Amino acid sequence: MKITVVGAGAVGATCADNIARRQLAEELVVLDIKEGFAEGKALDITQTCSLLGFDTRVTGVTNDYSKTANSDVVVITSGIPRKPGMTREELIGTNARIVENVCKSLLEHSPNAIIVVISNPMDTMTYLALKSTGLPKNRIIGMGGILDSARFKCYIQKELGCSQNDLHAVVIGGHGDTTMIPLTRLATVNGTPISNMLSEDKLKQIAADTMVGGATLTKLLGTSAWYAPGAAGAALVESIVRNQKKVFPCCVLLEGEYGQNDICMGVPVVIGSEGWEKIIDYKLNDDEQEAFNKSAEAVRSMNKVLDTLVQA
Ligand code: LAC
Repeated sequence: MKITVVGAGAVGATCADNIARRQLAEELVVLDIKEGFAEGKALDITQTCSLLGFDTRVTGVTNDYSKTANSDVVVITSGIPRKPGMTREELIGTNARIVENVCKSLLEHSPNAIIVVISNPMDTMTYLALKSTGLPKNRIIGMGGILDSARFKCYIQKELGCSQNDLHAVVIGGHGDTTMIPLTRLATVNGTPISNMLSEDKLKQIAADTMVGGATLTKLLGTSAWYAPGAAGAALVESIVRNQKKVFPCCVLLEGEYGQNDICMGVPVVIGSEGWEKIIDYKLNDDEQEAFNKSAEAVRSMNKVLDTLVQA
């Protein structure tokens, strides 16, 4: 098994670190455009092998895609991150060109790879990766909902004082401050609905905090978060390489599911060695479906910006 992470910034390096520690691959390549940077990150991670007890071989390269050849899974984190006050959507112009070129270069050397997209605005970058590569839909997966769901669990835990690991709580829809949909109705602590334990106001507050979870961190840190995004990327990669068949909310192409077509958005999917294998139907109620449709409108208008970029 060989995995490549493109982008050795904070999210890419953290994702690589998690992949290495969990020994998800024999070989892990980290690639960055900044001279020597990925080499430095790879060497630093490699020097934790004997401390943490793993043997993954980690190599860093500057822009040399030949070293990524025959990767089974590639994770794309390239692009500029958010600054405080910026939305993920404001990154589109710069990141679209980067993501398109990265996909092309990767596939020249790893034509069978499954592509995980983390770059923002993630829903649109996933759609772009799909359209520009023409790969089968199951091999392009956007990572956003896993992260948003982890944040949702964190805020639920703060109210209930339970273990986050006893929580089932899922965020679907777009990966944007106003487009994501924390499904409070379906959230449970080992099967007991959290709506039986928390007031309507508290549930609303948890959902609101979850939706701006990334922005809250950007404000505190001065840039986008990395521990949870990196760990979420690695969790997705783990389900692929170990064929775990975990159900994760991921951004995938919808062809009628959840009432939407020709759009990549977050829905629960089974993740295994073929990439995303199946969309699970949560049977949304009317309010949830309405929120999903609104979210789709916003994602679709962001996708339209891609046409103007191609023309420019
Ligand atoms: C976040 C970025 C990675 O939500 O989208 O932190």
